[in-house]
Order: sequence, then C-alpha cells, then structure tokens
Amino acid sequence: MNNYFPNKFPPQKQNVQPGIEEDMNPKPIYKNNTSLNQGKLKDKVAIITGGDSGIGRAVAIAYAKEGAKIAVIYLNEHNDAEITKKEVEFFGSECILINGDIGDEQFCISAINTVKSKFNKINIIVNNSAEQHVCNDLIDITTEQFQKTFKTNVFGAFYITKEGLKHLSYGDCIINTTSITAYKGNEKLIDYSMTKGALTSFTRSLALNLINKGIRVNAVAPGPVWTPLIPASFDEFQVSMFGQDNPMKRAAQPVEIADAYVFLASEGASFITGETIHINGGELVNS
Ligand SMILES: NC(=O)c1ccc[n+]([C@@H]2O[C@H](COP(=O)([O-])OP(=O)(O)OC[C@H]3O[C@@H](n4cnc5c(N)ncnc54)[C@H](O)[C@@H]3O)[C@@H](O)[C@H]2O)c1
Repeated sequence: MNNYFPNKFPPQKQNVQPGIEEDMNPKPIYKNNTSLNQGKLKDKVAIITGGDSGIGRAVAIAYAKEGAKIAVIYLNEHNDAEITKKEVEFFGSECILINGDIGDEQFCISAINTVKSKFNKINIIVNNSAEQHVCNDLIDITTEQFQKTFKTNVFGAFYITKEGLKHLSYGDCIINTTSITAYKGNEKLIDYSMTKGALTSFTRSLALNLINKGIRVNAVAPGPVWTPLIPASFDEFQVSMFGQDNPMKRAAQPVEIADAYVFLASEGASFITGETIHINGGELVNS
C-alpha cells in the first residue's frame, strides 16, 4: 500500500519529555519525495508550536514546500529544531526557532512579537505542542501533572492564539492538533484526553467567533503517529505494540498527517471552519 512500514517498532523508551526525534529507532518519516511547489501558501507566515519534531516538523516542511515562511516554537530540543530549520531552508524557505515554555503567557507574547518583528506578519497559527503522561488510575494523576498538562496543551494554545490573533486578518487561519483520544477516550491518558476535548471545543467556538473576520479555525485529530512523544510516554512493550490496535494495524508516519494541515491552511479550504479532519487509519470517530 505504501512505504510507511514497519508496522511494529523495536522496544524503546526515552525517560524525559519532550522526546528526542534523533534518538528514535527507526527515525520517523517526515517528508515525501515530492519537491513540487504549487505555491499554495506562497508568502504566508506560519507559526508551528512543537514544530521541531514529529507532526510539527512534517507540517513545517510541507508548508515550506508550498512557499510559507516558518516560525517553530518548541521547549528545549535544540538539535531536533536545527534539523527542522535546515530542512525548511533546503526547500527554499526561511525558518526561525524560538524555544521556551508555552504554558507561560509572557513567553507566548514575546514569541509572537519575535515572529512579527522577523517576518512582519502572521497568517497561520498551528497549535501543536503537547505533553502526555500515562497513568493507570485517576488517583495517580497528581495535581501538578494535571495542571502542567493543561498548561502545555490548552493554556499554551490559548495564549499563542490570543496574542497571535492581533496580527491575523481576513483569509488567515488557525489549526489545532487534537487527537483521536478526544473522541474515543483513552483509559490511560485521562488528563491528556481532556485537554484534547478542550481544544476541540476551542476550535468550534473560536471558529464561530471569528467567522465575520474571515479567519478560519479547524483541527486535525491524529490517531497513532510515530513521533518522539511515543517513546517518551509509553513503556518499551507499549512502544513495540504502538498502532497495532487500529484498523490498518500500524501507526502513521508524520508525513502522512502533514498534508491535511496544508489543505486546511490553503484557499481550497475557504468554506471549511470549525471542522476536524480525522487521520487515524480507519477508526470511525467523526462526530
Ligand atoms: N504521536 C501521536 O500518536 C499523536 C496522536 C494524536 C495527537 N498527537 C498530537 O500531535 C501533536 C504533536 O506531537 P507529536 O506526536 O508530533 O510529538 P512531538 O514530541 O514531536 O511534539 C510535541 C512537541 O510539544 C512541544 N512541547 C512540549 N511541552 C512544551 C512546552 N511546555 N512548551 C513548548 N513546547 C512544548 C515539544 O517541544 C515538542 O515539539 C501533539 O499535540 C500531540 O498531542 C500525537
């Protein structure tokens, strides 16, 4: 069907979150062989949180191929971020790297100002940063973890969007990375799934709020994807079985998720707002 196997991964575990893409085996596939630039995002400026690795890196490269300039916001994975920057530049675009904690409002304000100063405009905001921590029981979710997961996954998207909106105008857009867990639930990722549900409601409500300004707000809800988040969240056995329980019996590669972000940011999606594209290997959760 495609080249995105193996469908099973060697057992591996990274002990710190965010995980490091360079340390993964095999490395995720984040670009395809097409270099065709149709200019769908020509001269647009895109902010991608969590753009150093995983899905965010694949989106950064796909956007660069379409002519967008990129600002990557990430926590601290400097080597991964440099690789993304080089890839974006390889495709003839520009990329700035901004690192810091997205759960800190002042950082988000300053990051948006940095992007505005560098590129003089902002057209696309991709809220894609997240953390997740496996817990078998609700009582094991500490208050600290609960608050931090919400800070990173929800507050960060809120702060970046609130500050970024000052610079968006008619035809611009916001895309939130949610998750299949918002729809299906996940018994071991309760707090994480809650944050993804919040982002789904954020997407729908903000889309309605911004309709008269001509700014569209949509979401992508991936199923399992081979990214650093996986070995940084799950144990070795869970990593080796990752993606086996979906209809395609495999996880996606980041490159298989990225085109949806291009489409949602492009003129072709001009009548689409408040929607979620589900990319999950055939699970019917679209409600
Ligand atoms: N991998 C999957 O199976 C999967 C499935 C559904 C949804 N998602 C979502 O995809 C998105 C991207 O994740 P990924 O799987 O590509 O993993 P990833 O580890 O490559 O990306 C997560 C990113 O979040 C950033 N981040 C984490 N904490 C941060 C903080 N406090 N401040 C700033 N940035 C921070 C990291 O720098 C990292 O780039 C996330 O929203 C995740 O929830 C992933």
